[in-house]
Amino acid sequence: ERFGFFAYDACVVESLDLLKRKAGEEIVDQIYHFTDKSNRELALRPEMTPTFARMVSARATAMPKPIRWFSIPQLFRYERPQRGRLREHFQLNMDIVGGRGIAADAEVVAAAIDCLRALGLNARDFVARISDRHLIRGVLLALGLPEAKLLHAFAALDRVDKESEQWVIDRLCAAGGDEEAGRRVLSLRNSTLEDIARDYGSSEEVVESVGRLERLFDHLSGYGLGEYVTFDPKLVRGLDYYTGLVFEVWERSGNLRAICGGGRYDNLLASLGGVDLPAAGFGMGDVVLAELLRVRGLVPESGADVQDYVVVVSPEVQAPALRLVCGLREAGRRVAFDLSGRSVGRQFKAANQAGVTRAIVVGPDEIARGVVRVREMATGDEYETSVDSLVAEGFRFHS
Ligand code: HAM
Repeated sequence: ERFGFFAYDACVVESLDLLKRKAGEEIVDQIYHFTDKSNRELALRPEMTPTFARMVSARATAMPKPIRWFSIPQLFRYERPQRGRLREHFQLNMDIVGGRGIAADAEVVAAAIDCLRALGLNARDFVARISDRHLIRGVLLALGLPEAKLLHAFAALDRVDKESEQWVIDRLCAAGGDEEAGRRVLSLRNSTLEDIARDYGSSEEVVESVGRLERLFDHLSGYGLGEYVTFDPKLVRGLDYYTGLVFEVWERSGNLRAICGGGRYDNLLASLGGVDLPAAGFGMGDVVLAELLRVRGLVPESGADVQDYVVVVSPEVQAPALRLVCGLREAGRRVAFDLSGRSVGRQFKAANQAGVTRAIVVGPDEIARGVVRVREMATGDEYETSVDSLVAEGFRFHS
């Protein structure tokens, strides 16, 4: 919201065809799908981007650009559950539609970093690794790989850290390259932007992409985020729809899986039959992030604890007790009270179990005198006060 993004949501069930057409090989294998009673092929969404593209496409013409939307959907992937990867997770998605330039790319990366900083993490904890598919595309074309097989080559590169060198070379050969091209691609792993500009200076696409990335890094320094970002030549990402910027956020030591992944996908909206608008965004999962926050002792308190427990001494004070409950709730306090006519002792026990800060006792004697009795649970201190001043104090705290 600080970045001016607007919240949206969607149904968790999506058309299987839409998801299959838009994902990469890996996600397609992981889709939970089924046929409904009308013989429609449906699926539990494994990611939000196709749904986002579909929704935005339908509305974009009438909306001012750029469109900035966010959502925190629950996603399902049928993969082997392991550390950092579950069959169900939540993912913060932030996407911008209608901005083609570096400013939009930078805004998306900056938003991801900002979210993590807001949770108390800093540049020693994580880094955003950045690349550009145009750059890798330019290199692969310069090495003689055919345009039509580039997606296969990207898929091979995406597994550079997971598979053997020979596996990657074999895949690149299957994508139309030769052994020598495979070796040169592997040697990219340790290259800087300058190395690539020098080695592939004859490719216009490479030179242009290097310039673009350099401007992107400058832009991110302008946000004050220079220490959070780095160039990673082996990053291509596994999803087929990315067309330019690709980035992932990793814990510094690399011991955990990626916290976040995203990039630019300028053709996705048009390819869904919608408007032809450029887009970029990211998804940040809760699983790896929660693990990192736990390790760093930064898991935020839920903030949803009950604050006040209203103890109702006898049935005849039920009505004033309810008025107090409602008044406090309106003032923004989180309030619980007994629903089953339990004894005062048991109500205090329930208040203790709920971890409240105050128990507020409403009894016939007190009500006759126009007061209630407050017990501060931490200290055991007790005092009397009027219902009105309790409620007024609630309003003051809340504002
Ligand atoms: P993704 O790389 O597939 O990208 O997922 C993004 C993040 O979601 C990962 O970095 C990881 O933190 C988390 N994640 C993915 N799968 C799992 C899982 N099985 N268990 C736990 N966490 C997981 C996308 O989904 C793109 N749609 C992101 C995007 C939005 N690109 C542009 N806009």
